[in-house]
Amino acid sequence: MRIAAPELSPEQTYKLMSGIVVPRPIAWISTLGPGGKVNLAPFSCFTFVSNTPPMLGINIGRKAGQRKDTARNILEHGHFVVNIGNAGLLDAIHASAEEHPPEVSEAELLQLEVVAGEQIATPRLAAAPVSLECTLHSVIPFGDTGAEFFVGEVKLFHIRDGLARDGKIDTTLLDPVCRIGGPNYALLGPLVTKRALRQTPKSVMDKDAA
Ligand SMILES: Cc1cc2nc3c(=O)[nH]c(=O)nc-3n(C[C@H](O)[C@H](O)[C@H](O)COP(=O)(O)O)c2cc1C
Repeated sequence: MRIAAPELSPEQTYKLMSGIVVPRPIAWISTLGPGGKVNLAPFSCFTFVSNTPPMLGINIGRKAGQRKDTARNILEHGHFVVNIGNAGLLDAIHASAEEHPPEVSEAELLQLEVVAGEQIATPRLAAAPVSLECTLHSVIPFGDTGAEFFVGEVKLFHIRDGLARDGKIDTTLLDPVCRIGGPNYALLGPLVTKRALRQTPKSVMDKDAA
């Protein structure tokens, strides 16, 4: 089967792409909404884009041409928290994607406890095993649907005690969830370990040599 990309509608393209780029990790983003309410929503077009400084990227689409609450809140305040949920939080992750008016806090609706931010004013989720306090680095628009790629710089890592060993996250303990598409998710299956490959150590670029 061959499909010419320009013949697809935005909806058809989304269906195909989201079924091809799988499984996707989920950034469960808390932001400050109107009146200081904590907005919460999951985003799976999510990856990291730099390690020094640590930076994450999330693609946020639009609803009927309008920015989603998360995007608006990030632009207004310049900071947000990427919480990482686990399998025990999957129902709440899914439910937090329900559309609500901007002044409604999904964290409150779902009775999720929040903890004040330390380096930013956005609170994080107490139940999340990992939360990353981020400041907005840049926003890059892509394509014709108004989607925007938000890049955040991680200022503070909150990692539940016991989850990291020798600076590495224990993935089995983390028990992450991934999005497949629509209401479908995947849990961590068996880990497969291959022989370690030699890798040149990561380094910082000489500013003049770029
Ligand atoms: C698991 C999951 C992943 C999602 N990933 C994205 C995404 O990457 N980008 C996006 O724009 N919307 C994504 N959505 C949809 C948003 O969560 C949804 O539009 C939500 O209502 C946005 O909330 P907000 O208006 O409070 O920001 C996802 C939904 C689910 C359930």
